[in-house]
Amino acid sequence: MKVRATAPGRVNLIGEHTDYNEGFVLPAAIDYAVTVEAVARKERSVTARSANFPGSETFSLESLERRDGSEKIRWVDYLKGVCWAFGEAGYRLRGAQLAISSSVPVGSGLSSSAALEVAVAAALAGLSGLKLERRELAMLCWRAENEYIGVRCGVMDQFAAALSRAGHAMLLDCRSLEYEYIPLPLERCRLLIVDSRVPRALAVSEYNRRREECEAAVEQLPGLLERPLRSLRDLSAKELVWVEGQLPDPLGRRSRYIVEENERVKRAAAALRSGRLEEYGRLMGLSHTGLRDLYEVSSPELDEIVEAATAVPGVLGARMTGAGFGGCAIVLLEREAESQVRQRLGEAFACRRWREPSFYPTFAAAGLTLSGGGF
Ligand code: GLA
Repeated sequence: MKVRATAPGRVNLIGEHTDYNEGFVLPAAIDYAVTVEAVARKERSVTARSANFPGSETFSLESLERRDGSEKIRWVDYLKGVCWAFGEAGYRLRGAQLAISSSVPVGSGLSSSAALEVAVAAALAGLSGLKLERRELAMLCWRAENEYIGVRCGVMDQFAAALSRAGHAMLLDCRSLEYEYIPLPLERCRLLIVDSRVPRALAVSEYNRRREECEAAVEQLPGLLERPLRSLRDLSAKELVWVEGQLPDPLGRRSRYIVEENERVKRAAAALRSGRLEEYGRLMGLSHTGLRDLYEVSSPELDEIVEAATAVPGVLGARMTGAGFGGCAIVLLEREAESQVRQRLGEAFACRRWREPSFYPTFAAAGLTLSGGGF
């Protein structure tokens, strides 16, 4: 028996760092994906080869110990993490031989790891005859990333890889895990992904620190508001005005960003639903400013992309996307403006002696696909 699963990377249209605050996000899949071909074997072990890395890796399914967090994360750790999470959820996997290939850029903030986790999880579940809902599959991969790999990410990336729909963005409520597909009215315009090509050196440590800051705010808020509060999602704009100055810096600014960004996601979804691209473009600009000044996760290169692109006629908006500290930005533009945007950004980067940015002209692809067995 042979099963083949393909899961895409993602880009987020708006709603950054809101997922782990139980808020709203609006991601879409990209045309770059991870494909896993799985063949069953008798022994309860997994042997995997990746076209992107030399050699092969083998591990047993019988005794999957948690990773020692101090070791460098290797590609095979994502596979082990997924198998571990199946075990924790009470599922029994069959042994398998896996052949993996990926076109998702690694280290660019386009969720290559979530794509790998979801493709591996789907292939192994299919091979083992397990009927899982896609939402459950996404949660399982999220658990692997948090508890096995040790990156305390939110649920957005795994949901986008498992559940995206071609031509649509996915409005996901990260508390209820309900989602809705928003058709993208991109006849006249397109979204261009621009990779700053800056290594995201601080991404994990600063990411985890932002989480801790949000948690610290949630701990202090009930005392100030005299009511219980589960996450920053529960803070209203009115309450924010009252508590912002009473929280120690930077917790007030972090809270303001999250409250405002959640509101922007809802507005952006409504704007896209009714074809008001200008409004979505405006919200992109506000989102970027918040990420730069209040949440402090942008970088000089991402700021330059946003500023230089926004100055080109025919550009409706731009913002960084993903965790930040390097990685990618997205630009919403009229199709005729694309070559000028590429040229301007190339010049702006050359002027500052930065590496040339890369462009990914791909957008709103399909989510996970599975053939040969499945659910
Ligand atoms: C990373 C995480 C996501 C999300 C984004 C920021 O991609 O994996 O869960 O928090 O950063 O929006």
